[in-house]
Parts: sequence; C-alpha cells; structure tokens
Amino acid sequence: MFVQFRLFNPSQLGEIIEITKKNLTERYNDFVYLDIQKSWPSAFIVGMSDQTMAGFICGGITGEKEARILMLAVDTPFRNNGIGTGLMTIFEQEAIKVKVSKVRLEVRTDNQGAIDFYKKHGYSISSLLPSYYNDGSDAYTMEKLLVQT
Ligand SMILES: CC(C)(COP(=O)(O)OP(=O)(O)OC[C@H]1O[C@@H](n2cnc3c(N)ncnc32)[C@H](O)[C@@H]1OP(=O)(O)O)[C@@H](O)C(=O)NCCC(=O)NCCS
Repeated sequence: MFVQFRLFNPSQLGEIIEITKKNLTERYNDFVYLDIQKSWPSAFIVGMSDQTMAGFICGGITGEKEARILMLAVDTPFRNNGIGTGLMTIFEQEAIKVKVSKVRLEVRTDNQGAIDFYKKHGYSISSLLPSYYNDGSDAYTMEKLLVQT
C-alpha cells in the first residue's frame, strides 16, 4: 500500500474528526485539533492513501525536552500496513529535531493492541492513571527515551 505522509492542513479537519470518531474513544472539540496544530505544526502528520486519509498523529511539547503523543489513529481498513509505524517514526524525528529526549503518551489499560504496538516501538509503561478517561477508564502512561542523532 502506497501512503504519503504529509503535514496536516486545517482544510482536512473533517477527515480528522471522522477518523477520531471511528477509531478513538475520547471526543474533542474541533478547535482542539487546530490548537494542537498551531502549537507544533511539524509534528501533526497525516498518512494519505491516494485522496483518502488513512491515519494521523499529533502531539505537543509538554516540558523541558519532553513531548507527548496526544492522538494516534489509523483507520481500520488501513491497519497492519506500517502506517502507524510511519507516523510514529516521523513524530519522533520531529521531536529529536527540537531536542526532545523523552516522549510520553497515555493509553487505555484495556487497549492491549495499542500497548503492544507501543512496546514494539520502544515504549514502556511508567505509571497507572486511575479514572483518567471521561468514561472512568484507567490509563497507563508509557514513555520512551529518544536517542539524539
Ligand atoms: C495502534 C495503531 C495506531 C497501529 O496502527 P497500524 O497502522 O496498524 O500499525 P503498523 O501497521 O505500523 O503496525 C501494526 C502491525 O502491522 C505490522 N506491520 C508493520 N508494517 C507492515 C507492513 N509494511 N506490512 C504488513 N504488516 C506490517 C507490524 O509488525 C505490526 O504487527 P504486530 O501486530 O505483530 O505488532 C492502530 O491499530 C489504531 O489506530 N488503533 C486504534 C486507535 C488506537 O488505539 N490508538 C492508540 C491510542 S493511545
């Protein structure tokens, strides 16, 4: 499958909202995506398969040398083709460019598929956040130290 990775353009907001609705459990207001994009545009990446958005990743710089993945989703028909890996790799490269040394994220404790995906990419569980999500579910914090090149 040929996928092009590009910077998110605000004109694609509708597709981002659709992918979020179908693949992530939390709901966000439209302005949240635009705020995330404004604060770190080079790390808001979309994967395009022809004219269709297959997935996206976005995040923020959350502290001294620390970044956080806020959302990562690949739409079901496009999964297991390396798109999630591609999005994650570009995100980490962008983080390294701005001297980030640690990436952090939260994941539902029952989302074993995503936990395995992150472990495979070098992330380890660092803490448990009880009742982290709006529906009362718990989260794990996962972290990875980046090697500066
Ligand atoms: C987690 C998620 C982003 C992974 O995306 P993905 O595009 O399927 O990820 P990849 O294709 O890179 O990797 C998944 C699997 O495909 C395999 N794979 C990678 N590249 C491949 C390729 N070119 N061809 C075939 N398989 C490939 C990987 O080895 C991996 O296999 P594994 O299941 O044995 O680990 C996706 O499942 C998703 O959106 N889930 C729902 C939302 C979610 O949970 N997000 C995280 C919230 S914290």
